[in-house]
Amino acid sequence: MFEHITAYAGDPIFALVDAFNRDSRPHKVNLSIGIYFDEQGRLPVLRCVLEAEQRILAEGGAKPYLPMEGDAACREKVAQLLLGEQHPSIGQGRVATIQTVGSSGGLKVGADFLRTWLPDSAVWVSDPTWDNHRSMFEGSGFAVHSYPYYDATTGGLRLEDMLACLKGLPPRSIVLLHACCHNPTGVDLAPAQWDRLIPVLRERELLPYLDLAYQGFGEGIDEDAYAVRALAASGMTFFVANSFSKSMSVYGERCGALSAICASPAEADRVMGQLRYTVRRIYSSPGIHAARLVAHVLGDADLRAMWQGELAQMRQRMLGVRQALHARLSAVRPDCDLGFLLSQRGMFSYTGLSAEQVDRLREEHAVYLIRSGRLCVAGLTQANVGRVAQALAQVV
Ligand code: LMR
Repeated sequence: MFEHITAYAGDPIFALVDAFNRDSRPHKVNLSIGIYFDEQGRLPVLRCVLEAEQRILAEGGAKPYLPMEGDAACREKVAQLLLGEQHPSIGQGRVATIQTVGSSGGLKVGADFLRTWLPDSAVWVSDPTWDNHRSMFEGSGFAVHSYPYYDATTGGLRLEDMLACLKGLPPRSIVLLHACCHNPTGVDLAPAQWDRLIPVLRERELLPYLDLAYQGFGEGIDEDAYAVRALAASGMTFFVANSFSKSMSVYGERCGALSAICASPAEADRVMGQLRYTVRRIYSSPGIHAARLVAHVLGDADLRAMWQGELAQMRQRMLGVRQALHARLSAVRPDCDLGFLLSQRGMFSYTGLSAEQVDRLREEHAVYLIRSGRLCVAGLTQANVGRVAQALAQVV
């Protein structure tokens, strides 16, 4: 029955985590998967999350099935977080938000939905993008192409090439965009660059699909939602999948959402209905603990303030180790232009290292990066950054 099944080569990111966990060298450093570690190298449990969990436990609620679209309080808070509390599209009933199994769950539900309702469209992703984007949309039956994005010579953005490519796409093409903290490069569009991109998307009648997995890890919660709010202000219809995995450090809880910002309340109702049906066919309904966590942290003023403070600390720590890596590496390799380390944002930097150089880092120095050269700065600490800089200096 199963003889014809071929072996799975493994996921390029999760396979490295397995290899790291098996590595017995005490000085090993994990800069591979996009997980935030604190200055002691631990996965933090945020105080706001602990406090929310204590309240949830004290409330002693039963655990019924949630509706297919998830918990109402959680969905309402998510829409407000993305668009701003008073955004007219929310009051007008034009936003269809469903709670999903992480933002991956949201991306997948959105992909299946779009395959049903825009079957003639193709999907365009940035070059490069998160490895799993392509697999997810191909898995839903789409052809996936890439638009120019990262400039390997400057470590910055190929904005003109990106715009030129998008201007040539057929109407209704689906354009996947990283709202902030681009994964894997850390290269983001500045607000003025979004302001140039959005008219192109609108004029070409393209469908923007935002992936917002790192809200608060770039410049701040509101600043990182610039693309969402600018698209909403433009009157366009678009999707956004967002995650709390990183921003609340709740990876395994699978807290995420998918929102469709629609042209009218009637359209939003129909989109919501079809999203519910899409969920029903995949996993039926999302988890109740995830919903309660998000609703408590976003819905209670004290917990919300605590979260904002803790998120700001994580963001500042990442900026600090970015600067430390830049300083240490510049000291040992004054011949290299390392300005990209400072201009790139969020969890990742794209080092430009080849797969062979990354292999040497892992084999000779126990420093783990993704083979594309992506480095997760959130795995750096003031204690290990010197050694990482020395290791990098030896392989470039
Ligand atoms: C990453 O890019 O490392 C994270 O988003 C984790 C994942 O699922 O790949």
